[in-house]
Amino acid sequence: MSNLIIRGGNRLNGEVRVQGAKNSALPILAACVAIGGINVIDNCPRLTDVSATVKILSYLGCKVSRDGNTVTVDSSCVNRYDIPRELMHEMRSSIVFLGPLLSRMGRAELYTPGGCEIGLRPVDLHISAMRQMGSDIAEEYGRIACTSEGKLRPANISLSFPSVGTTENIMIAASTAEGTTVITNAAREPEISDLADFLNKCGADIKGAGESTVVINGVKKLHGTYHKIIPDRIVTATYMIGAAVTGGNVTLTDAGPSHLTAVSDIFEKAGCKIRSDMNSINISAPEKLRSAGTVRTMPYPGFPTDIQAPVSVMAAVSLGTTFIIESIFENRFKHIGELNRMGANIKVDGRMAVIEGVEGLRGTKVFSHDLRGGTAMVLAGLAAQGETVVADTEYIDRGCQDIEKDLKTLGADICKENSMHHERQCDF
Ligand code: EPZ
Repeated sequence: MSNLIIRGGNRLNGEVRVQGAKNSALPILAACVAIGGINVIDNCPRLTDVSATVKILSYLGCKVSRDGNTVTVDSSCVNRYDIPRELMHEMRSSIVFLGPLLSRMGRAELYTPGGCEIGLRPVDLHISAMRQMGSDIAEEYGRIACTSEGKLRPANISLSFPSVGTTENIMIAASTAEGTTVITNAAREPEISDLADFLNKCGADIKGAGESTVVINGVKKLHGTYHKIIPDRIVTATYMIGAAVTGGNVTLTDAGPSHLTAVSDIFEKAGCKIRSDMNSINISAPEKLRSAGTVRTMPYPGFPTDIQAPVSVMAAVSLGTTFIIESIFENRFKHIGELNRMGANIKVDGRMAVIEGVEGLRGTKVFSHDLRGGTAMVLAGLAAQGETVVADTEYIDRGCQDIEKDLKTLGADICKENSMHHERQCDF
């Protein structure tokens, strides 16, 4: 177990490169199971969720190797179609192996990943979609057994919610199903487009990814390819909030500004200046932030739910009252209690947090309850007076490759401590 120790008050200044997108790497790595060849995945972040995905790929028979930011997956020989419960439970998005296994093996036996810190994470939309494509699916006590004798069949699937994972599972499964599958009310996240780009380079025929209607014409066989993962827009926004709450000026390179329009709007309302070109984004913050008004999380291209916890830190130290409405997940305000212990003034009523900006926060020991809540605690420590100890940083390691190194590069006083032995690797 480890903690991050932060001494607040330093303005973040300078430039860092943004890691590859976790939420693009995970479905693309899983999709390799359906390919049956050698795939070279570049800009693949070093994260515990990626390691959990690689463990599943290896269990299924793939040969996986990593050289720096490049992961090579040889899926020529996949010799299993089952994933044990303990591997499924290491990572919530492991359900995205369902489509690849049905495509490649015609069978899949796995477990519902189970609820997590932010919600129940049901998989009913995934199961319903695979049933519409001809799978027989038995589900009991969290175990899912699917067979799709022979080939999956094409279908017209209308999603009741634009589920990211479900859209991904359908795209992968339909890539090798004979005929044309149409998804309506598909998720439109940039990670969906990145997955479609990868699959099309593997020989698939997918049109409309990134829009609400996606059309997949099944092909007989897919083949290996080289693919570079898009930048992580959530980490980009997280570092931008670090600059905002410290009155800093930060440039993020290898970033994807076009994926952040809804977020940039909130920063500008708060008084920050944003300048961007194709691959980089610069943010300069005012002396004092002002409230951005109301922030409602929505499916893309709306404001991302994954940035809700970090942006609540910005609201906590802005002039005025901010209303944050979390409309995607049912339990994504666990960081609010920790912020209030640092002197924030936030009330939660159901899916709404009412945040009265305060003059400043005070450092204390706080806990990460989930990945994005944990990064929010780090941001709060940057803004706070005194020392903040953020515990349970294993959550943060799931999605942030080098948060301590990157923030140190930007001038933060931050270091890691082994929480068992209280050994600090700090130079303060
Ligand atoms: C993806 O999760 C992301 N994870 C999440 O990021 C992100 O918050 C989420 O999309 C929304 O943008 C990855 O891409 C690996 P959903 P996913 O299916 O696919 C309900 C992070 O911090 N739903 O779009 O699981 C569900 O309960 C993570 O990086 C059903 O009801 O999200 C939720 O309320 C957290 N039935 C909503 O839809 C289903 O079968 C959004 O879920 C599936 C989902």
